[in-house]
Amino acid sequence: MTNTPDKVGIDDIAVAVPRLFLSTTGEFARARGIEPAKLSRGIGVEKMAVPDAHEDAATLAASSTLDLMRNNDLLPEEVGRIYIGTESGVDEAKAMGTYVIGMLEEVYGSGTFSECSTVEFKSACIGATHALESVACWLKAGEDGGWGEGSGSDVSGRRRRRVGIVVATDVARYEIGSPGEYTQGAGSVALLVDRDPRILALDPVMGIYTRDENDFFRPVGMKCAVVNGKYSNQCYLTAMDGAFGSYRKRALSRGIFRLGDGEGVTDHLDNIIFHIPYPRMAEYAAASLFRREWRSLPRWREVEEEIGTEPGDPGGEEGATVEEKAEAKDEADYQRRFSKSAKFQEAYGKKVKPSTLISSVVGNIYTGSIYLGLASLLVQGLLFPGKRIGLGSYGSGCSAAFFSGTVEEGIGSVARGSVLKKLDERVEISLADYEDLHRGDRLESVIPPVGEFALLQIDGDGYRRYGFVG
Ligand code: HMG
Repeated sequence: MTNTPDKVGIDDIAVAVPRLFLSTTGEFARARGIEPAKLSRGIGVEKMAVPDAHEDAATLAASSTLDLMRNNDLLPEEVGRIYIGTESGVDEAKAMGTYVIGMLEEVYGSGTFSECSTVEFKSACIGATHALESVACWLKAGEDGGWGEGSGSDVSGRRRRRVGIVVATDVARYEIGSPGEYTQGAGSVALLVDRDPRILALDPVMGIYTRDENDFFRPVGMKCAVVNGKYSNQCYLTAMDGAFGSYRKRALSRGIFRLGDGEGVTDHLDNIIFHIPYPRMAEYAAASLFRREWRSLPRWREVEEEIGTEPGDPGGEEGATVEEKAEAKDEADYQRRFSKSAKFQEAYGKKVKPSTLISSVVGNIYTGSIYLGLASLLVQGLLFPGKRIGLGSYGSGCSAAFFSGTVEEGIGSVARGSVLKKLDERVEISLADYEDLHRGDRLESVIPPVGEFALLQIDGDGYRRYGFVG
C-alpha cells in the first residue's frame, strides 16, 4: 500500500540569532562617514546581528534546531533528515550537519540521531530553498516511495512520525569599510518539514532561472565575499524575473490558479516573500515584478495617469535585458517613479513590506533571509488559512527560484514564538568589539555562553569541538 501524502511543506519555524548586535545608525555610521538615514531608509537595516567569539554557522544551526525540536516535542528518532543550507561551511569535507548532530546528541544522548541523514546544500542564498525542495520530495515519496520511512505508533501509543528539518544558517561577512559591510548579519532558521503542514503547504511547481555570474562569490580560503555590489542587484532582478516567468507558465498550465479578466498572477498571491539581502532589495524586486505584470493589465492606465507613459524599450524590437534597462537613464528614472507610485506603494505595503520586519534588525543571513521573511509574517499574525504566499529565492552566482504555498487551517495552533523577545533582549556592542570579532582578533566571548551551544576549541588538526554550555 502506498502512503503518499497530499500536502507537504513547512509545519513550524524556529529562529536563532546571536545575542550581540551593532546599530548601523550610531557609532558605525559616524565612523564610516555615512548618513544614518541612508542605512535605515536607503538600505533598510537598523541593526546587524554579530556572532560572538564562540558562535558560528554550526552553533546557530544547532540552536534553531533544538528550539524547533523542543517546541514540537520531537524525538530524535522522528527526524529522518537534517538538511542544511549554508555558504558558511566550517569544513571543506565534513558536513556541518554532523557537527550539528553531535551538538544535539549532547542534549538528547549519544547515538540518538544515528538514523538521521544530513547533507550541506551550498548555492549561495538559494541553498536552503533547494534543501526544502529535497526534503519535501522525500516526504512526498511516502513510505513505499523508496525514500520515506514508515510512520505509526510506538509501544506507548505515542504517534510516531518521520519528519525532516531544513536548517538555513549563515554568517554574512564583507570587508570592513566596504559597501557590503552595512548589510552584514548572522542567524539561522530551522524549518520543520512535515505532511499536512500547518504553516505552508507547498504547491507542486517551482520556476527556476540559472546562469553563470560573478556578482558575488567567495573563493576557497577567503573569509569575506568578493562582491560587485550594484551588478549583484541587477543579477538578482534578472534572475527573479526569469524565475517568476517560469513559475507563471508552470502554475497556469498546472491549474494552480486561473486568471480572471484583468488579473495577474500576483493578484493570486496574498504575500510575496523575496530573498532579503537588505530590505530595500525586496522593494526593488517587488517593483520590477509588479511593473512587469501590470503593464499589460487595465490598471496600468491608472499608473500612467500618475507617472506618465513608459519610455521606449532601450533594446528596441529585440527587447532590452534588465541590465540594459537599468543603464538607460530614462528607464531608471521611470522605474524610480513607478516605485513611488501610489498603486505600487499600496501593493508593496500590503504584500511585501511586512516580510522585511526581522531582516531590518538582523541584516542579511544569506540563505535564511527569505525564511526570516516567513517568520516575520508569522510573528505579526499575518498568516491566515487559505492565503497563498509566493516566495522568490535568489542565490548569487546565480540562480533564482519562485514557488508558492497555501497557509493551512492548522496555522491557529502555531505559536508565534519568542523571536521578537529574543531580538529585544540582545546586547549592543561597541564598534571596536565588532571590528575585533570581525577580524578574528578577539578570542574571548563578549558574553560568555550560558544555556547554549558553543565552539569550545579548534584542535591542532582543525577538528572543531563544540559543546552545550549549561
Ligand atoms: P550603496 O553604494 O550603499 O547603494 O550600495 P546606493 O548608494 O545606491 O544607496 C542605496 C539607497 O540608499 C539608494 O536608494 C539611495 O538613494 C539611498 P534608491 O535611490 O535606490 O531608492 N540613499 C539614501 N536614502 C535616505 N537618506 C540618505 C540616502 N543616501 C542614499 N541620506 C549595495 C548598496 C547593496 C550595492 C551594497 O550595500 C552592497 O554591495 N551589498 C552587498 C551585495 C548585496 O547585498 N547585493 C544584493 C543583491 S545580490 C544578493 O542578494 C545575494 C546575496 O545575499 C549573497 C548570496 O546569494 O549568497 C548578497
